[in-house]
Amino acid sequence: MNNNKLFFVLLLTFLLLSVGFFASQCSQSNKKQSEVENEYLGDAACKSCHKTEHDQWLASDHFKAMQASNDSTVLGDFNNAIYSADGVTSRFFKKDGKFFINTQGEDGKNHDFEIKYSFGYYPLQQYLIEFDRGRMQVTRQSWNSRDNKWFHQYAGQNILPNDWLHWTGNAQNWNTMCAECHSTNLKKNYNFDTDSYNTTYSLLTVSCESCHGPAKEHINYIGSAAYKSGKKEKGSYMLMPKNSSQHSEINTCFPVMQEK
Ligand code: HEC
Ligand code: HEC
Ligand code: HEC
Repeated sequence: MNNNKLFFVLLLTFLLLSVGFFASQCSQSNKKQSEVENEYLGDAACKSCHKTEHDQWLASDHFKAMQASNDSTVLGDFNNAIYSADGVTSRFFKKDGKFFINTQGEDGKNHDFEIKYSFGYYPLQQYLIEFDRGRMQVTRQSWNSRDNKWFHQYAGQNILPNDWLHWTGNAQNWNTMCAECHSTNLKKNYNFDTDSYNTTYSLLTVSCESCHGPAKEHINYIGSAAYKSGKKEKGSYMLMPKNSSQHSEINTCFPVMQEK
């Protein structure tokens, strides 16, 4: 092979490799494009076309799975009520329109904790407190909304502050134990190195897209010329369409928890 030929062979190889490389880059970015195309839009985006479902959802416990605490969401007695059980005395009170519980903290002593969110509605309601490192904890004291009284989780047990089951410990940590099923599109975002969370969600509570999946593609499809000209797409790009199997319904309510 003379030098000229070698040069052309090398050039050709280089060109072929470059084409291959750019082609793979393109298909990768195309794939990413279609993956990110579907987005969570929130329940407000469904209202105009699905008013009946939206009204029903507003009246459901799913709408109340997690709510900012205020006079219309908090059911518990925060009128200076006192509850003693299992060696712990707690007081529930209001100050400047906010809700507080005075109860046993991590150090074994009583402190005031501000209730950030109410969790659930009926037949019981629980309460979330913000802690450092992005954590939220569920108080042991819970409201029985059927009989209107306070009660303890793990009633009858003497749980010490350093116990895994103490409300300040990992068993009662919202980020890991509760959040995935009680919000929409939750990302736990746990940082192992700093033992902290940067938990995010699209919507606070169990909204339409928590069960039906992100709806951007669905709404684009309904607005498309293809749909208007009569082209039907099974499920209309949504999860849990009509006549879903019992199996898929159960899997929606109790999904296999994944590391996110
Ligand atoms: C512009 C109107 C429009 C909007 C906005 C809209 N939808 Fe729909 N949706 C429709 C129509 C029309 C259908 C019926 C599609 C068909 O012909 O099968 C439908 C069907 C559905 C179905 C049932 C699919 C099936 O096959 O049973 C679900 C679930 C659904 N929508 C959820 C949602 C959710 C959740 C939102 C909001 C995030 C939403 N939709 C927003 C118009 C809309
Ligand atoms: C695997 C999913 C899942 C996890 C994890 C989960 N929940 Fe729930 N939770 C549900 C479902 C589903 C219901 C509705 C059950 C029913 O109504 O019978 C529910 C209902 C409730 C209710 C009842 C009130 C209501 O409005 O129906 C409370 C309170 C509650 N959960 C608190 C918690 C707390 C606190 C945690 C974490 C320690 C937690 N949940 C973790 C799925 C979950
Ligand atoms: C807790 C889960 C859950 C939530 C939250 C939820 N849905 Fe559904 N949805 C379902 C299930 C389950 C079905 C029935 C599927 C079947 O027939 O098997 C359904 C059915 C539907 C249908 C089809 C009804 C029909 O018969 O044509 C529409 C449209 C719909 N939902 C819209 C919504 C909208 C809009 C919201 C929010 C406002 C919402 N859904 C919230 C679970 C949910």
